Amino acid sequence: MTAVEGSSRTSELARQDESALLDLLQELEKRHGFVPRQVSEEISRLVEVKLERLRRIQGKLDSTIRRDVQQHVAQWRNEEGNLIMILHAIQNQHGYVPREVAMELSRELGVKLARIYEVITFYHYFKLQPPGAHTVTVCNGTACYLKGSGELLNELRTQLGISEGQTTADRQFHLDVVRCIGCCGMAPAIVVDGRTCGHVKPSDIAGHVAAVKAKTGGAK
Ligand code: FES
Repeated sequence: MTAVEGSSRTSELARQDESALLDLLQELEKRHGFVPRQVSEEISRLVEVKLERLRRIQGKLDSTIRRDVQQHVAQWRNEEGNLIMILHAIQNQHGYVPREVAMELSRELGVKLARIYEVITFYHYFKLQPPGAHTVTVCNGTACYLKGSGELLNELRTQLGISEGQTTADRQFHLDVVRCIGCCGMAPAIVVDGRTCGHVKPSDIAGHVAAVKAKTGGAK
């Protein structure tokens, strides 16, 4: 588990504690008409112990994120256009630009968070969400477009239930669109996990999706 994944998991656990405590207190009140003082004090103590542990873990994870960002910044600090270079390094490290990392970068570089997001959203390359385990890319360059890449894209949108640039909720598939992958003789073409498939028909799409799912042990 990376520091970023650990950080969001820790926040999630802390939220779970709060709601578990409230549920338990409500249940006790419903059953007995009141919450015995001893019980509520014991619950509070247990939750406080757990929260304290989570806070310590969070602190360690935050310092890991800070150290990583400081390393990226140190490498590019005096270079022109360093923000983009650092964002590339961050995306290479995590597969996307996590919010916690962007916030740390804003502090470290002294650049407003809004400016960082402006750059991230301007360039199609940068992602704000973790990528899917598998990427299906549709070529929409002129040759592929003329040979029906639009229909392939529609079929993929239907099969996966997402639009281009999005990742399925189970994080198994990411759908992308690019302009010309240099295989125009094979148009229309798609790329599935780095493998180029040419002369693809809309009726082939289900098979490609099923093959990836089979590889992942039948993920839905
Ligand atoms: S346009 Fe699709 S490979 Fe060139």
